[in-house]
Amino acid sequence: MISVISTVTLTEATISLVVEITVLVLLIVAFALKNRKKYRQHGIAMTSAIALHIITILVVMLPSFSTFFTAPGTTVPFLLDPIVIISFVHVALGLAAVVIGIRLVASWHFKTDLQTCFANKKMMKPTIILWVTAILLGIVMYVIFWASFLLSQL
Ligand code: HEM
Repeated sequence: MISVISTVTLTEATISLVVEITVLVLLIVAFALKNRKKYRQHGIAMTSAIALHIITILVVMLPSFSTFFTAPGTTVPFLLDPIVIISFVHVALGLAAVVIGIRLVASWHFKTDLQTCFANKKMMKPTIILWVTAILLGIVMYVIFWASFLLSQL
């Protein structure tokens, strides 16, 4: 029997979900700012999204993900469980987005000259696609992990 045991509580997972939805809103706002040619504000919104994303990864997601491997009864077939596969894809996409995002923000570091940002433009579209997909998968994971528990409390 496969069991995904997590040390993360419902409160922590819900806070993480709310933060990730905030990140999603920031990404949408940042994209709208780019469309309005407000590039500096676009960069600032993306920087805030990266900061929030890093905090959730370190505080909730890493501790939760590590329990996948340390939980008693963890076996190789466990890796074939759909929720585990979704989790791995979520982690891979989320990590890729944050690593590229840090690179984009670091190469700009709030300079008034936006030349490096324009030069990095090609990397931005794939990054936002990876990131939004990772967040949507995170929402799916929350629903799968916690929905039955919440319904049983009604
Ligand atoms: C995680 C970080 C970032 C993401 C996900 C992101 C996302 C995007 C996206 C999706 C586009 C449209 C690309 C396209 O049309 O091909 C874009 C364009 C752009 N972004 Fe970012 N961005 C990020 C960071 C930054 C930073 C730090 C700056 C610097 C201020 C910046 C400045 C720009 C500029 C100048 C454009 C080009 C606009 C144009 O030519 O129409 N971005 N960004």
